[in-house]
Amino acid sequence: MFKETFNRLKAQQFRKPSGLLGLDAANFMRNNNRGYIARVCDILDIQDDDILLEIGCGAGYAVKSIAGSNSLCRVDAIDFSALMLKRARKNVSRYIDSGRVRIFDGEFGAFGLFDTVYSKIFAINVIYFWDDLSPIFSKIFKLLKPGGHFVIFMSSPERLRARPFTADMVFNKYSITEVRAALLKVGFLTVMHETVEKEGFDTYYVEAQK
Ligand SMILES: C[S@@+](CC[C@H](N)C(=O)[O-])C[C@H]1O[C@@H](n2cnc3c(N)ncnc32)[C@H](O)[C@@H]1O
Repeated sequence: MFKETFNRLKAQQFRKPSGLLGLDAANFMRNNNRGYIARVCDILDIQDDDILLEIGCGAGYAVKSIAGSNSLCRVDAIDFSALMLKRARKNVSRYIDSGRVRIFDGEFGAFGLFDTVYSKIFAINVIYFWDDLSPIFSKIFKLLKPGGHFVIFMSSPERLRARPFTADMVFNKYSITEVRAALLKVGFLTVMHETVEKEGFDTYYVEAQK
């Protein structure tokens, strides 16, 4: 019982980090997500005229890497955790100051202040916290330019079930088949995915084109 409660509390910190446990989750993500961020940045293949949006940017490491790798592209990012927003704004302050990066405070599904359309949108380890993929994917589709790309990194249900805190029901466990079908259903023209084994379980990089 105590273990279950602890794992639930821990799982909630990955959905919306806050307080001391949130700091612990933030440190875990900093070390754990580096490789995923690097591969997603490769897949995004950043160009000078790109306008990107990251959903659930956490501490802003992907935004920092993208803005640092290309001096012309523009990047918006959104997160709803005050703790992570503070870290993200600190990590990318110089790009915010030069006007190339904006960090929005809000829940993506409810946020109504987007004022542009994007060439590329991405979300790393965030899909688990969307209880219904259809409205979220529809919103992403609408926010993309024609021909735009949406890139996701996610772990398989088997990998999520294998770790005590990700096994908790706070994490929705979507199969790659469900995710592909949901993307096609909202109108994406093509969906590709790459499977990468991690600690004996599948993880996926999914790329959908409008
Ligand atoms: C597991 S962390 C991943 C952080 C980052 N993408 C990374 O790879 O390090 C999930 C992040 O998404 C944010 N998040 C989750 N659901 C969100 C939503 N609906 N709207 C905005 N942010 C969200 C959380 O606050 C958290 O910072």
